[in-house]
Amino acid sequence: MSTTYTLDTKTDRAHPTPKPMKRLTVPAIRKRKTDGQSGEPLVMLTAYTVRMAQIMDPHCDLLLVGDSLGQVIYGLDSTVPVSLDMMIAHGAAVVRGSYHSVVVVDMPFGSYEESPEHAIRSATRVMKETGAAAIKMEGGEAMAETVAFLTRRGIPVMGHVGLTPQAVNVLGGHKVQGRDDATAAKVMADAKAIDDAGAFSVVIEGVLEPVAIDVTKAVACPTIGIGATAQCDGQVLVGEDMLGLFERVPRFVKKFDDMAGMVEKAVAQYAADVRSRSFPAKEQTYQPAQ
Ligand code: KIV
Repeated sequence: MSTTYTLDTKTDRAHPTPKPMKRLTVPAIRKRKTDGQSGEPLVMLTAYTVRMAQIMDPHCDLLLVGDSLGQVIYGLDSTVPVSLDMMIAHGAAVVRGSYHSVVVVDMPFGSYEESPEHAIRSATRVMKETGAAAIKMEGGEAMAETVAFLTRRGIPVMGHVGLTPQAVNVLGGHKVQGRDDATAAKVMADAKAIDDAGAFSVVIEGVLEPVAIDVTKAVACPTIGIGATAQCDGQVLVGEDMLGLFERVPRFVKKFDDMAGMVEKAVAQYAADVRSRSFPAKEQTYQPAQ
């Protein structure tokens, strides 16, 4: 499948024409694990912008508008300062740039924890203003009531357990979970609680591999791993990490290319061409009609 869309520059650059694929649904994602049996692994990447969404969409089952955009796009120290308005703006862009993947938007810190009513007000804004098919929220047992409340009212929820970055101040850093019996038991209890509450899938982040394997076997819904195990029912990475846009990445990231190097090389060539007046050349300028 080609990832190069024909952009209709006369009207709107955001929309590839024609619409290339039919969009997957939340039930189709949920069904990829049936009776505890995992089907083809689910492919998820984070996307925050329309163009990245367009390029990633044909290859993915899910696009996650993660609150990691706080660090990746806005240069913040953590996900804690990310606002609901930021998530909605980027969520709408990713929905506009995709036709195939299920788009999931992260609920940012402070937008859902207070009560199920608080969560549904925020989640309703996300669904109405972005067109996304689902939301993701961090937390396990403490969030189970909210997951059930939202799911029963038409809002599909992806859970997120293990290393939950919004809890960085409680966890004391971005620390791998499950190294001791207490945290291993907590990851398991959290995943089971939100599975029982009706989450259609759950992200397992930064968890010791044997714990992630046990959790994947224990829950009915598909697990999506990041820093977990290849035995999860799917995988997710931050797009910019796997593309090699950052020099330093965590151990669990595999760089599939060197985008920083490519950008650097192209920009250096542009600067040289501008300085030598070889750009723009005749073919990039407008000449009077003959
Ligand atoms: O915000 C994010 O990108 C995430 C993924 C790392 C799962 O939550």
